[in-house]
Amino acid sequence: MAHAIQRILLICCLGGILLGQSCQKNTVQPPGQARGATLQSAAPYPFGAALDPGLLQNHAAYRRVAATEFSSLTPENVMKMRTIHPAATLFNWAPADLLVDFARQTNKRVHGHALLWHESVPDWVKNFAGDSAAWEELLQTHIRTVVEHYRGRVRAWDVVNEAFTDGGTLRPSIWLKHLGPDYVARCFQYAHAADPDALLFYNDYGHEYSPRKRRAIEQLVINLKQRNIPLHGLGLQMHLNRRSDTTGIATALREMAATGLSIHVSELDISMNPQNDPALQNLTPALAQEQAQKYRYVVRAYRALPKNQQYGITIWNVGDGDSWIRSYYRRRDWPLPFDDNYEKKPAYQAILSALQ
Ligand code: XIL
Repeated sequence: MAHAIQRILLICCLGGILLGQSCQKNTVQPPGQARGATLQSAAPYPFGAALDPGLLQNHAAYRRVAATEFSSLTPENVMKMRTIHPAATLFNWAPADLLVDFARQTNKRVHGHALLWHESVPDWVKNFAGDSAAWEELLQTHIRTVVEHYRGRVRAWDVVNEAFTDGGTLRPSIWLKHLGPDYVARCFQYAHAADPDALLFYNDYGHEYSPRKRRAIEQLVINLKQRNIPLHGLGLQMHLNRRSDTTGIATALREMAATGLSIHVSELDISMNPQNDPALQNLTPALAQEQAQKYRYVVRAYRALPKNQQYGITIWNVGDGDSWIRSYYRRRDWPLPFDDNYEKKPAYQAILSALQ
């Protein structure tokens, strides 16, 4: 047996030398992968990441990976209300402009995120004292100003983010309280008026485990369609973890695609330490393989959707070191296809081979 393997290796090696390749281990491509392939070159649809303009500016390895691997960019935070609209009459464009300029220079799509969300609400809005007409004016001004500023430069918007609870009811947010239950529809109208060419998405999490949330979103799609209010796509965040049920993932994608809208896997990451196990100090090779399998599963399930509904897959951050999971949930975790040094993990190889 060992003898046979040695002979195969020798033949491969000689073959490589004849083809002008060296037989050093690190130059051998994983089976089935084209030399020089990247996520964006391998994917039949845009493959993206959520980016931070500060890292883009100051971290060369981050910038290099962002430039080479992705064809679609989502601003992780800088288009959220607290950053972009920090005071009633003040818009802070610089950080988001930086990202949009980078996308232009490197020929990438920008996916705007997010016009309205119950988090990232600036203090001036929390303290806003006005009647319902004044709240409506606030909402409209915010959406109109941001969408108009990026008209022609931002291809699509997450217009409303996370409006539903896992139980399928409207989340009791500051927006629901002051604007009433039909505010979601009006956000889409305001965004469409500001840029009639932009694609408009409803973005949320938990489709893979909450049939009730899926029902609520399906009802929203039907409702807006009946009223002729533009809604072009659905974002499924897919913040998964090692325990996420694969059947649920496939069901979520299939059911949401049955609406006929474009489907964006909009914030993909796979947490490997969801319980914050203190004994887990590093991503073991076995865990890295497990994670790779799950990434592979998601990419394969996405491929099953109708081609014209494949808006793309976006991972949330680039390397494990900049993952929001670590700071937001305060735990050790390794949720992304690149490690702390922006080296490719087994998850990366799994995504790449599933794309090809
Ligand atoms: C997260 C960012 O990644 C963090 O940096 C920030 O502190 C909180 O928001 N769902 C979303 C994203 O739609 O906007 C969130 O992003 C992650 C969950």
